[in-house]
Amino acid sequence: LAVLSGAGAFLGGCSHAGGNDELGFTNRLRIPPLADHSTDPDGAKRFALTLQSGGRAELIPGKVTEGAWGINGAYLGPTVRAHRGDKVRMAVTNRLAETSTLHWHGMRLPARMDGGPHQMIDPGATWIAEWTIDQPAMTSWFHPHLHEETAMHVYRGLAGLFLIDDPDGPPLPSEYGVDDIPLIVQDKNFDRDGTIDTSGVESGTFGLLGDTILINGTYDPFHEVTTRLVRFRLLNASNTRVYRIGFADNRTFDVIGTDAGPLERPAPVDRVKISPGERIEVVVRFTAGETVVMNSLGEDSRSANDIEEDDFTLLKIVAGSRLDDSDPLPATLGGTPVPAVPAGATVRRFELSGSEINNKDMDMTRIDEVVSAGAVEIWEIDNTTYAHNFHIHEVVFRILEINGTPPPAYQAGPKDTVFLPKEATARLLVRFGAFVDPLTPYMYHCHLLRHEDKGMMGQFVVVEPGTENRVPLTLAPGH
Ligand code: C2O
Ligand code: CU
Repeated sequence: LAVLSGAGAFLGGCSHAGGNDELGFTNRLRIPPLADHSTDPDGAKRFALTLQSGGRAELIPGKVTEGAWGINGAYLGPTVRAHRGDKVRMAVTNRLAETSTLHWHGMRLPARMDGGPHQMIDPGATWIAEWTIDQPAMTSWFHPHLHEETAMHVYRGLAGLFLIDDPDGPPLPSEYGVDDIPLIVQDKNFDRDGTIDTSGVESGTFGLLGDTILINGTYDPFHEVTTRLVRFRLLNASNTRVYRIGFADNRTFDVIGTDAGPLERPAPVDRVKISPGERIEVVVRFTAGETVVMNSLGEDSRSANDIEEDDFTLLKIVAGSRLDDSDPLPATLGGTPVPAVPAGATVRRFELSGSEINNKDMDMTRIDEVVSAGAVEIWEIDNTTYAHNFHIHEVVFRILEINGTPPPAYQAGPKDTVFLPKEATARLLVRFGAFVDPLTPYMYHCHLLRHEDKGMMGQFVVVEPGTENRVPLTLAPGH
């Protein structure tokens, strides 16, 4: 396995040489600021998010990073935090020189509010999305979704976290930045002068695989913890890379939540695999005075693709000489078991090839699937080639089987994205929402962003039960 250091290309392109030795963990982990909101007359929490370029980012210390984009800042975005039951109104202003969108990955909302490829925001325009949050506590995120441009927009830095809290949920570490720490994991390449290297983002089988890891936009980070239990919210916001995250001492930690909500009970693990778009919430125990390195270990190259082969160090964690006590981790987390498959559930099959789904490229004017509101269906994803993953908008699903066997406990919770290793199959139990709109589609797609941009995406509409055969399967261009 190649051991890539955090320093990579920046220290001279010798990305396979030094491993940990080159890392000094000299930079304090950035914690994305919490987004402010105002309250509208109707009680909605109003958040303002501005997509911008040309800010003065310094991703590599001492170098001004050209080419970085951000949301309300030079790189990445603020963390939006709201409660289950809140009505939110998101005002998204595009100050880029090009059209973009902002998609609420993991949110259950009407298709017009989804921020997918059809909800384009022209330069200078503001788009308003509003909905009432009605789903369990989770770590979701937002990022552009412009057709054929998602990889570049996300790679340049347009992404942020959207946390949902559930006032009725179990007591968990939740003091943001103290014992509740977001970790946005991204790989990047930099030129010697610190400019973001975008070559490769839009080419090759997998697009760009960076040799430098940033956590929350921090290069070579360390973080100090002050409590015995710390919750980390992992988001893989990389274009393509898959990580297998754990600790250098192989300690056990507990997974408490998957993409879209809590597990039933903590799932002890020593590694978690996370592919682009996925989130995993974990709780880690610390003892006073210790230091431990969070890392990612690659899969064996005989069975894996190059998107999951490399080793990385991610973050040095330093525990204070005295740690505050934490409440014990609850035995149950509020999640529910995987529901029984309803008799007669519709089964849909999706075959993933190199860059197509069911032998089709994305077409913005074509509706690929029509689903009735509130349906519970089986979606079978059959990957006939190299690694992909599969994300479905609006829904929450459960993984019933991967390659014929149930998923590990830490992946048994509510999901919206599933990793499909080389030639794998997945069986998903998918619950659709009730937001009917025969003219505005939701997306399903591979979340390896190069693949998504190349057209590995399809569209579905949710319609009134009984009207499935009456909806148009062609949308006017530019709809
Ligand atoms: Cu995270 Cu369709 O996207
Ligand atoms: Cu793919």
